[in-house]
Amino acid sequence: MNQIIRENLSISVNTIDLLNDQIKKEAKASAMYLAMASWCDQNGFEHSANFFYEQSSEERDHMIKIFKFIIDNGGIAYSPEVTQINHEFASILDVYKTALHEEINVSKSIQKIFLNCRKENDVASELFLQWFINEQLEEEQKMRHAVKIYELHGEDVENLYAIDKRLATS
Ligand code: FEO
Repeated sequence: MNQIIRENLSISVNTIDLLNDQIKKEAKASAMYLAMASWCDQNGFEHSANFFYEQSSEERDHMIKIFKFIIDNGGIAYSPEVTQINHEFASILDVYKTALHEEINVSKSIQKIFLNCRKENDVASELFLQWFINEQLEEEQKMRHAVKIYELHGEDVENLYAIDKRLATS
């Protein structure tokens, strides 16, 4: 990044670099969820498809939120390139397990940036990230709930579609 711009920042330079990495992760999550929506749609899980369309959109919102935070504070935000999105899943349980795994990784990444802000006394960024930490807990819970339900009741094929409907209203 341009040195003059960096000298006039109200948040740490290191944080900006880490947040640009986080933008890539949010964009990847958004694309992954779109692929999951497609798989769910093709396999008759229409409620889960809607769920993942919404999740994809939420992840894009997260990306934009970080993007604007960087720009509003004098940094340069980079539009991410997203490649190698998986479209193949073994089952609906596999879809939700993959989504849970993704959310846990994103949570760890956010927490790492948060702790780095604390180390560098970047209070503004720490406060900004507080919202993401809470949001991640909610998202993990949603995925964990779906994994648990499919693990407990998903052996019977008929049940798979009943669960799909039930999860949409839970
Ligand atoms: Fe914005 Fe759930 O990662």
